[in-house]
Amino acid sequence: MISSNPVLAAITEQVIASFAETENPRLREVLESLVKHLHAFAEDTQLSFDEWMVGIQFLSRVGQMCDDKRQEFILLSDTLGLSMFVDAVNHPDADGATETTVLGPFYVPPLAESAHGSDIAKGTPGVPMYAECQVLADGLPLSDAWVDVWQSDDDGYYDVQKPGQIENLRARFRTDADGRFTFWSIVPTFYPIPDDGPVGDMLKATSRHPYRPAHIHFMIGKDGFETLVTHLFIDGDKYLTSDAVFGVKKSLIISLADGEPRTRGSGDHVPAHKRLVHSFGLRKVD
Ligand code: BEZ
Ligand code: FE
Repeated sequence: MISSNPVLAAITEQVIASFAETENPRLREVLESLVKHLHAFAEDTQLSFDEWMVGIQFLSRVGQMCDDKRQEFILLSDTLGLSMFVDAVNHPDADGATETTVLGPFYVPPLAESAHGSDIAKGTPGVPMYAECQVLADGLPLSDAWVDVWQSDDDGYYDVQKPGQIENLRARFRTDADGRFTFWSIVPTFYPIPDDGPVGDMLKATSRHPYRPAHIHFMIGKDGFETLVTHLFIDGDKYLTSDAVFGVKKSLIISLADGEPRTRGSGDHVPAHKRLVHSFGLRKVD
């Protein structure tokens, strides 16, 4: 990948040589590779000074957009497919476990554990959905695993995107002796990723839409097992084939069944609702 042009190759080799005294061998390896790829990119594209400056200004704006609530760099990584690429590099095969996908910027560790069967939507408008899930490892029920669930509301917003909003549409459950957990919520909808910053400008400049297909996030863990970060996507969504962050995997697309009328919590009658039935698989730490 070092240029065949001796002038360009000399610059790359000089920078690589400057890392020779790096104490951490992994840091040296990563920096050398980064420099080779950056230089190859500039040669490949015959990058002009003006374009280089546009790139510098763009990355500066990405940094300036970051604060404790907004991580524009992760959003950039997501929309360039880098997050899913790193995910694929680190999970070359699912090996019986549930496939992984992006964490996204809206994860917040829940405040407390919720009881099985709780309504995590707490009256938020939407089509009621009852989730009956099980966590398995090597095909056997995994008890006492923690399960964090989070999703957007019917308008496509997470609680943390709304000023002053209390914890909503997110919860932590613990699997029972059969590895099961259940909860009420609402059917999620597609929504746009935050597109009012430089990443949104990049999407507009490339005629890309900012939408993610309807999904529910899950993070599941237990000591001795790899923590699973994944989503379940709802079949039929029009954005399944064009997710703005490339996070869809076929095995994560599920169909919701029609549920029989039933009673929720303290006697609330739910006539029509959807049922989400799914088993997750965790993998033991090697
Ligand atoms: C999300 O699904 O919450 C998400 C993932 C990546 C970027 C933006 C949002
Ligand atoms: Fe999401």
